Amino acid sequence: MKKLAVLTGGGDAPGLNAVIRAVVKTAILRYNCEVLGVRNGFDGFVDEGGIFPLTLGDVRGILPRGGTILGAANRGNPFARKVMRDGVEVVEDTSQRVIERIQSLNLDALIVIGGDGTLRIALKLYQQLSVPVIGVPKTIDNDINGTDFTFGFDTALNTAMEAIDRLHTTAESHHRVMILELMGRDAGYIALYAGIAGGADVILIPEIPFHIESVCAKIQDRVAAGAFFSIIAVAEGAHPAGGERVYRMEGDQVFLPRLGGIGQQVAEALAASCGVETRVTVLGHLQRGGSPTAFDRVLCTRMGGAAVRLAAASRFGRMVALRGGEVVDVSLEEALARPRRVSLDSDLIQTAREMGISLGDE
Ligand code: F6P
Repeated sequence: MKKLAVLTGGGDAPGLNAVIRAVVKTAILRYNCEVLGVRNGFDGFVDEGGIFPLTLGDVRGILPRGGTILGAANRGNPFARKVMRDGVEVVEDTSQRVIERIQSLNLDALIVIGGDGTLRIALKLYQQLSVPVIGVPKTIDNDINGTDFTFGFDTALNTAMEAIDRLHTTAESHHRVMILELMGRDAGYIALYAGIAGGADVILIPEIPFHIESVCAKIQDRVAAGAFFSIIAVAEGAHPAGGERVYRMEGDQVFLPRLGGIGQQVAEALAASCGVETRVTVLGHLQRGGSPTAFDRVLCTRMGGAAVRLAAASRFGRMVALRGGEVVDVSLEEALARPRRVSLDSDLIQTAREMGISLGDE
């Protein structure tokens, strides 16, 4: 292996730089392999100045830094790239240009660090156009199959947990119901883990449609037991039984209502049905920023190194994964075959229920 390239696609997540650093260091120090950085996801293959050499000096000091030194692109699908032509947005298939660029660069491998959407593009490039890709699963949502955890999730969950801790003290002082709306799209991992870690009283996730009466009953039970405040962790994709999630998707893009997301809706419904005083906090992109936790730094370093080893062994179309404490690899196709959601049979759900946490359904 003489030359590989690395790119980061989709929304950012804490730990991207740690993976880039591990890729560069492992490739250069272990394999004496040249590394190229691709700017702004797949766009870098098409845009002027989108490819540049990555040296050991470029990755010095980036381990604790949030974001990505390569930049990310939300709309960077080479099979359907949105571009402006005479002030009008048009969709172009630029995949052939990407292939030509990869060939002219003599790349032996392309390491794609991304979530579900970006990895799907990588799989398509591999299956349809024989691009030698290796995937690294990134997302705070933890919604990719084949790996116990995606990187970025642990950091996001710690940020969410800290927010719950802070809400607890003010909730108790003012005898209020504090609602924290968390990210995760259609997966409830952040809300579930952070809710358990932070001691939330109610956790609402997309996998379990809720009844506002159940939430109300939990709050009233607490009041009867002398606890005049409650904490509710609600995933952005949670919805009432028979209702719809409140955000909409356009391709890979998420559009959240500026006001009146699910947190606000729960607050209003509770005020109406229970007569309690509520306040809503939407944690938003704070969950995506900041320095990765130790867990994520170690995971990213292991995943970055493993990705380079896979590339050196020409095991393309694979994704690095954490399984039972070991970093292994799985086929990208298998990992992306179906969406990953919180399993209702998991011990996490059982534990939450047995701890008296209301999941809004009983
Ligand atoms: O997939 C990661 C994620 O942060 C989701 O949890 C969230 O719904 C979405 O991205 C937000 O996307 P954007 O950065 O485009 O607002």
